[in-house]
Amino acid sequence: MHASDRAAESLLAFWADGGVDAMLLDQPLDRIEAGKVAPPQPTARIPAPAQRAAPAGQPDVSGPVAEAAARAAEAQDLDALAAAIAAFEGCPLRYEGAASKAVCWRGEAGAPLMVVGEGPGAEEDAQGLPFVGRAGKLLDRMLGSAGLEGRALITNTVFWRPPGNRTPAPHEQLICAPFVERAIILAKPRMLLLVGGASAKFMLKKDEGILSLRGRWFEWRSTDGTVELPALPTLHPAFLLRQPAAKKRAWSDLLTLIERLDRPDRPA
Ligand code: URA
Repeated sequence: MHASDRAAESLLAFWADGGVDAMLLDQPLDRIEAGKVAPPQPTARIPAPAQRAAPAGQPDVSGPVAEAAARAAEAQDLDALAAAIAAFEGCPLRYEGAASKAVCWRGEAGAPLMVVGEGPGAEEDAQGLPFVGRAGKLLDRMLGSAGLEGRALITNTVFWRPPGNRTPAPHEQLICAPFVERAIILAKPRMLLLVGGASAKFMLKKDEGILSLRGRWFEWRSTDGTVELPALPTLHPAFLLRQPAAKKRAWSDLLTLIERLDRPDRPA
């Protein structure tokens, strides 16, 4: 069997595993029409929104948020930003669950896609890289199957492992947010893939659950309103490992993503 046959077989097995057992929909879908949306525009004249306040019942983290914002603003490239994160002592997660250094990002700087997960787990903590455990391997297979291998920079909403792999709390995400935002600004992706409910809800400031948010386009906006990017929430690969039947929905989200990412520019 040729290598290309094996690759095709593996891709088909991945699809079948996720419930994709037919290549045709019941009704024709014009994906070009469906995906017609204005390309992302920098929006220089949007007034700067106020710094996000701590959600009700969460600790006041305005001090560490301001410090993170100041340190992030000084970083002029991703390496400098990673060094600033590593030196930052304002996130409590650093002292709670994390055994090792900050887990910043992996993948291609300058890639068209930025994937934002929730927070590092045990394997990520051990290796110092995001999404390298079981869920990360599935994420890589999904991105590869969608033709996105080597075309994404992968990070999380927090840079230290929450104890016991719990979901990061909103105040922990708030503290790390200036660094996440600066990473997006420096990496200049064309769009964001928000992986998991805790990522999607925080990045988009939404209260809906991931099953309602997934597969729909939103606009992510920087704190000062100068950068806007299309953002697509999808299911977390850890959830897909527990619920393989849901892979079908994740695959549909990836098709939505690549249709917009790879669509040739059109006149407005
Ligand atoms: N889950 C996440 O959300 N991020 C990781 O890096 C690993 C698992």
